[in-house]
Amino acid sequence: MQVMDERVGIDDQGQVSPRLRTIGIIGGTGALGRGLAFRLAAAGHQVRIGSRDPGRAKEAATLVDQRVTGASNVEVCASDLVVLAVPWPAHEQTVAGLREELEGRIVIDCVNPLGFDERGPFALAVDSGSAAEQAQQLLPGSAVVGAFHHISAELLLGGGELDADVLVLGDDRDAVEQVIALADSMTGLRGVFAGRLRNAGQVEALTANLIAVNRRYRGQSGIRVTGI
Ligand SMILES: NC(=O)c1ccc[n+]([C@@H]2O[C@H](COP(=O)([O-])OP(=O)(O)OC[C@H]3O[C@@H](n4cnc5c(N)ncnc54)[C@H](OP(=O)(O)O)[C@@H]3O)[C@@H](O)[C@H]2O)c1
Repeated sequence: MQVMDERVGIDDQGQVSPRLRTIGIIGGTGALGRGLAFRLAAAGHQVRIGSRDPGRAKEAATLVDQRVTGASNVEVCASDLVVLAVPWPAHEQTVAGLREELEGRIVIDCVNPLGFDERGPFALAVDSGSAAEQAQQLLPGSAVVGAFHHISAELLLGGGELDADVLVLGDDRDAVEQVIALADSMTGLRGVFAGRLRNAGQVEALTANLIAVNRRYRGQSGIRVTGI
């Protein structure tokens, strides 16, 4: 894995790294939050795991990486970029409860509204169209960007090489570019613009297909966009 000098953003090849950011992760004690924290810290970013229980966040942070810290969900909102990594049933209440704290922030929504039954995973119908659009409606003062829906937490936490694209969706061009740059800064990932937020529903739903692929082939599938 590439080593970064966190203070100056120069990698071990002497190249100037992408801009280093402070990143807060709401629901960061979960599998995806910890996996993203691990990889983002490795890329040199300053990462804070958030939780409803700051003690749980601090405990998770120490286990992930010594550079990662833990705090309450409210506190981690004061970051350059804030990742939303809570389960779909907790999405509306969590987002609505942090509206003021998230004002003016870029909010990265990774949430996949999925159900599971005896026939496997399936996409849930969402009134707003998608989790990302629901977040944007609840957070009119924030720039919501959808990303990281298809990256397996298991792969992120496993520490092996990554090789995947991150589909990035949003209506705020600057916020989208910042999230693409963030994905690009993580070794083995590439950020790819995939449309406006109104296209987030099918991207979130596609995760049900990837989970079905994983179950059939016993793997950790991801997405690669070809031809660009
Ligand atoms: N797992 C993956 O591979 C993966 C990949 C891509 C996208 N995603 C999406 O990312 C999101 C997080 O996935 P995950 O697997 O990390 O989920 P998770 O482990 O089930 O939950 C993440 C965290 O959310 C918090 N949380 C749980 N219930 C809550 C509630 N009722 N209200 C507020 N916070 C609650 C918990 O943190 P505290 O108890 O510490 O507050 C928990 O550790 C999901 O929406 C999923 O669709 C997951």
